[in-house]
Amino acid sequence: MTQVLFVVSECAPLIKTGGLADVAGALPQALAAHGCKVRTVLPGYRAIMGGLGKTKVVERYDDLFGGPATLRACSVHGLDLLIVDAPHLFDRDGGIYGDAAGLDWPDNPERFAALSYVAAMIADKGAAGWVPDIVHGHDWQAGLTPEYLHALGVAVPFVFTVHNIAFHGNTSAERLQDLRLSSDRFDADHFEFWGQISALKAALAGAAKITTVSQTYAQELLTPEFGIGMDGILRARRGDLLGIVNGIDEDVWNPATDPDIKPYKTAAGKAANKTALRKTFGLGKSDGPLCVLVSRLTEQKGIDLLLRALPELLAGGGQLALLGSGAPELEVALLEAASEHPNVAVKIGYDEALSHKMMAGGDAILVPSRFEPCGLTQLYGLRYGTLPLVALTGGLADTVINASPAALSSGVATGIQFNPITAQALGDAFGRLCALYAQPTVWKKMQSNAMKQAVGWDTSAAEYAGIYAQLRTAAA
Ligand code: ADP
Ligand code: GLC
Repeated sequence: MTQVLFVVSECAPLIKTGGLADVAGALPQALAAHGCKVRTVLPGYRAIMGGLGKTKVVERYDDLFGGPATLRACSVHGLDLLIVDAPHLFDRDGGIYGDAAGLDWPDNPERFAALSYVAAMIADKGAAGWVPDIVHGHDWQAGLTPEYLHALGVAVPFVFTVHNIAFHGNTSAERLQDLRLSSDRFDADHFEFWGQISALKAALAGAAKITTVSQTYAQELLTPEFGIGMDGILRARRGDLLGIVNGIDEDVWNPATDPDIKPYKTAAGKAANKTALRKTFGLGKSDGPLCVLVSRLTEQKGIDLLLRALPELLAGGGQLALLGSGAPELEVALLEAASEHPNVAVKIGYDEALSHKMMAGGDAILVPSRFEPCGLTQLYGLRYGTLPLVALTGGLADTVINASPAALSSGVATGIQFNPITAQALGDAFGRLCALYAQPTVWKKMQSNAMKQAVGWDTSAAEYAGIYAQLRTAAA
C-alpha cells in the first residue's frame, strides 16, 4: 500500500467551487483500487465543520500563522480527512477564497500557507502515527508545501497537479517572514516570480513530478499564450511534466441511477427529462437542439463568445438553458439575452441538483472556453448522451471526437469542436450542430457513441499510482 497525502483547498461533496473539488472527491477512491491509500488535508472552513461527524484531535499547534489550531481526523463520504481547524483562518462567513462581495480574503497567503505547512508537518512527524510515502498537492493553495518540506528537512517526494495555471497565489515579498519562508531561496530557481512570492512557482520548482489534467493542456502550458508567465519554468521542467486526463465520479454522474432525474439507460430516456427541463426553465417547444451550459461565469469560459454567437443557434431553432454565477457583467448580459429571446433561459446561481437535470434534459452541452485544462461538464454530457459542443483546447480537445466527415463516416463521432476560439467559429459550429440534430439517425449514433465512451477514473488513477510507485522506488 502506498500512503498518499492530498493537499487541497476544496473537496466534493463537502465544499466545492469548481472541478478541483470533484477531482479531490473522486480520485482517492479510484486510487484505492490501485494500491494507494489517500488521506486528504483540508482547511476547516466554517461551512464544513458541522458536517464532519465525529472528529478526533490528532495534533495541536500553538501558533499556526497567527493563532492556535488543531488537526482533526475524520472519515466522511468515504474520504479520510485531516482537517486544519484554525478558527482565525477559516471560521468565517463568505466564500472559501473571498468575502460575500467576491473580494479575495487579504490573508489568503497565510491561510493556504498554513494548509501547506501542516501538510509538511504531517509528512515530517505523521498524524496519529500515520506517515505518507508521497505528498500530492493541487493548485497554488498547496504550492508552498515543497518549501516547507525543504525547511523541515523532509525527504518525502512531492507531486504537484496543475488544475489551472491562471491562479498563481502571488503575494508581496514583504511577507517572507510572515509566511515562514527562507529569504535564501527567494530567487528565480525557487519561489520568486517577478519580485513577488509565488506559491505556484514554488510548487513548479519544487515538485518531483508535475502533472496537469489533460495531455493537450500539458503541451499548451509550454507556450507563452497558455503558460501565463510560468511557461519558462515549465519548459525547463518538461521532462517531469505529464498530462493525465480527469475522470468523473461514475456513481454520482450515472443517468441510470441519478436521483435528481428521471433515470434512463439509453438516450431514448432523455425525452421525459427534456420536457421537464423546458418546464423548469420556462422554455416552449422548438425544433432545434436544446443546449445547456453549467459554469462559473468568467473570461476563461467564453461566455461573451456565446452571447455573440447566439443568433446562429436561435436561427437554427435551437434553445439555450444556462446555469452559472460569477462576473456581474456576464450575469447581466445573460439575463438581458434571456429577456430578449423566448428561446434563451438563464438561472444565476449555484445548484448541484439542477446541473444534473440539465445534463439529463439537454441535447447538447456547451463548453466554449478560451482555455480549459480538462473540463468536467463535457464528460458528464458524454455519459448522459448530451453531445458536447466545445472549443478545441486543453481537455476539450482530448475528450471529444469531433463530427468531422471522416469521424461521421467511420461512426465514431461524439460531439462538435470549433477552432479558432472565436464567436464566428462558434456560430459556424451552431450551424453544424443544428444540421446534425436534424438527422436523427446520425444524432442517435453519436449519442450512443458518447454514452459508451470511458469517462471514469480507472485509467488515470493507474497513471497516478504509477508515478507514486516510480518516486517511491527512486526515494528508497
Ligand atoms: P472549473 O473547475 O474550471 O470551474 P470544470 O468543468 O472542471 O470547470 O468543473 C466545474 C464543476 O463545477 C462541474 O462539476 C460543474 O458541474 C460545476 N458547476 C459550475 N458552475 C455550477 C453551477 N452554477 N451550479 C452547479 N454546478 C456548477
Ligand atoms: C480547473 C480547470 C478545469 C478542470 C478542473 C479540475 O478548475 O479550470 O478545466 O477540469 O480544474 O481539474
